Amino acid sequence: AYTAGPFVPERAGLAALRRAAADCRGCPLHRDATQTVFGAGSADARVMLVGEQPGDQEDRQGKPFVGPAGRLLDRALAEAGIDPSEAYVTNAVKHFKFTRAEPRKRRIHKAPTLREATACGPWPAAELAVVEPELIVVLGATAGKALLGSSFRVTQVRGTVLEEEIHGRAERLVPTVHPSSVLRSDGREAAYRGLVSDLKVAADALS
Ligand code: URA
Repeated sequence: AYTAGPFVPERAGLAALRRAAADCRGCPLHRDATQTVFGAGSADARVMLVGEQPGDQEDRQGKPFVGPAGRLLDRALAEAGIDPSEAYVTNAVKHFKFTRAEPRKRRIHKAPTLREATACGPWPAAELAVVEPELIVVLGATAGKALLGSSFRVTQVRGTVLEEEIHGRAERLVPTVHPSSVLRSDGREAAYRGLVSDLKVAADALS
C-alpha cells in the first residue's frame, strides 16, 4: 500500500518534518507536483486548520492556502475572531493533484483518492503531535474522511464540536465546508456566511 510512514522522522520538530516531507515518495502524487506543500505556522498555535490538498498557487509557491481559497479563508477567520496569523494551516494531502483539459493548458484540481489521503496521513499525524492544538478545524469532506474515516459527512457535523480519537490522541474538532466550495457555490454570500458561522463555533470553543 502507498504510505508516507517510512519518510516521517520520529520525534522531529516542524523544521525537520518539513525537510523530510520535501523528499516524500509515499504515493505517486509527487511525480507531477512541483513540490511538497507542508503546513505553515507556529508550533505554539492553539488551532490547526486542515484542508484537502494544495492548489495551483500553493504548488508553485510551496505554501498552503496562499491562493484564492486561502484569501477567502483568512477573511472568514478574521471575521469569526480567529487571527489567521496565529493558526497553523496544513492539508490532509501534501502534493497538488491535477489534470489538464489539453496539454499545456491550465491545471485543474482533481480530488485525491482515499488511498492517497490515507497514504499521506502520517504527515498530519506528525504535525498534530508537535503542535498539539487545542482545536482542529476540518475544512471539507476530504480532510474529514482522512482524519476521521470514510463515514465522515461534513453536512451532518459542520459547525459542531466533536471529540474524537485521532492517531491515538483525544482531539477536539470543528468541521466546516472547504473554502473552495464557497468560491464554487451559486449562493456564494450564503455559503460564505455559513463558513463564518461555523468558524465562530471554533472561536468560541477556543476562548
Ligand atoms: N485548498 C486546500 O485545501 N488547501 C490549500 O492549501 C489551498 C486550497
